[in-house]
Amino acid sequence: MIRRLNPVFASIKTQSHLSRRFLTTRPIQRTQSRFQSTQSGGSKSNAGLYATLAVIAAAAGGWYYYQNEAKPVNYQEVYNAIAEILDNADYDDGSYGPVLVRLAWHAAGTYDKASGTGGSNGATMRFNPESAHDANAGLSVARDVLEPIKKKFPSITYADLWSLAGVVAIQEMGGPTIKWRPGRADADTAAACTPDGRLPDASKTQDHLRDIFYRMGFNDQEIVALAGAHALGRCHADRSGFKGPWTFSPTTLSNDFFKLLLSEKWVQKKWDGPKQFEDKQTGSLMMLPSDMALLSDKSFKKHVDAYAKDQDLFFKDFAAAFQKLEELGVPFKKEAPIFEFKRL
Ligand code: HEM
Repeated sequence: MIRRLNPVFASIKTQSHLSRRFLTTRPIQRTQSRFQSTQSGGSKSNAGLYATLAVIAAAAGGWYYYQNEAKPVNYQEVYNAIAEILDNADYDDGSYGPVLVRLAWHAAGTYDKASGTGGSNGATMRFNPESAHDANAGLSVARDVLEPIKKKFPSITYADLWSLAGVVAIQEMGGPTIKWRPGRADADTAAACTPDGRLPDASKTQDHLRDIFYRMGFNDQEIVALAGAHALGRCHADRSGFKGPWTFSPTTLSNDFFKLLLSEKWVQKKWDGPKQFEDKQTGSLMMLPSDMALLSDKSFKKHVDAYAKDQDLFFKDFAAAFQKLEELGVPFKKEAPIFEFKRL
């Protein structure tokens, strides 16, 4: 269900704000004094003129404010606009979807439940040093591609926009419906950036994964469900140092990541890059050391087995875990509506 601001209420709010702003500006005061000096005894008509001017100023200002600042956001329209820009034959596998999912996850995955710092609220990756953290290499592509959407819908915050873009990408690439709420604010300065090292290091294994994800408040089952996003996209040698896609259909979300993890024989890739694995049969797919840890750890493997067998179960658990990820540390208003967006 889409909730809009009542337009009557919105216009009352904007007009009163603007009339305050516009009625105190100089041009109107000058007009008033000139009028008073040339017209004697015309207090009645003066009053009428002032009232007319005030109404015109308020209306013009209201229109400006409505266009530029206070326009209530129709989130389904933003959803549709993002969905429209996903496909691009010149980029990677033909879609910006995977890199947008990665942006939404990296913006949120800095959360620390003990201190309440980090998370998608703030969109702090706009600022150095967070934008320059190694883990975020390449995410300027995702931030830049969303810039025209921000211009078109200036009232949405960057923090909400990035998070929503992750939802759009997942849904439009065949994934489950993700419930989503607006309410994230943008930080004004780099002061809210989290320290480097809060996102997972792909060269590490289960203990590290638990350190990182337990810190956010996730359990083993949620860690495995979230890792299933590696059905999407690819590693880029010039970003992370790793190279290649995890599945043969990197622009479709499915449980293929788990199926391939179990069905293929994974051997260490011989190359001068960081340690990673490739499928013995084709040599065209890859797994990170952190992905392989899902196989070698008994508690993780149980969920890999379950998700490989049952895509519906994976979708259900992934949708819940991704919503939780995107909401970590966000001070939602009690009455914030929860959206389920229609696909394009
Ligand atoms: C479990 C720990 C994780 C590690 C160590 C990890 C690591 C990585 C690395 C190294 C890349 C390659 C980046 C590049 O070179 O472009 C990558 C890409 C990606 N990751 Fe993860 N990731 C993890 C969890 C997640 C989660 C939780 C999600 C989302 C729910 C996710 C979504 C993605 C996507 C969609 C890509 C592809 C991006 C693209 O194609 O540009 N990852 N990840």
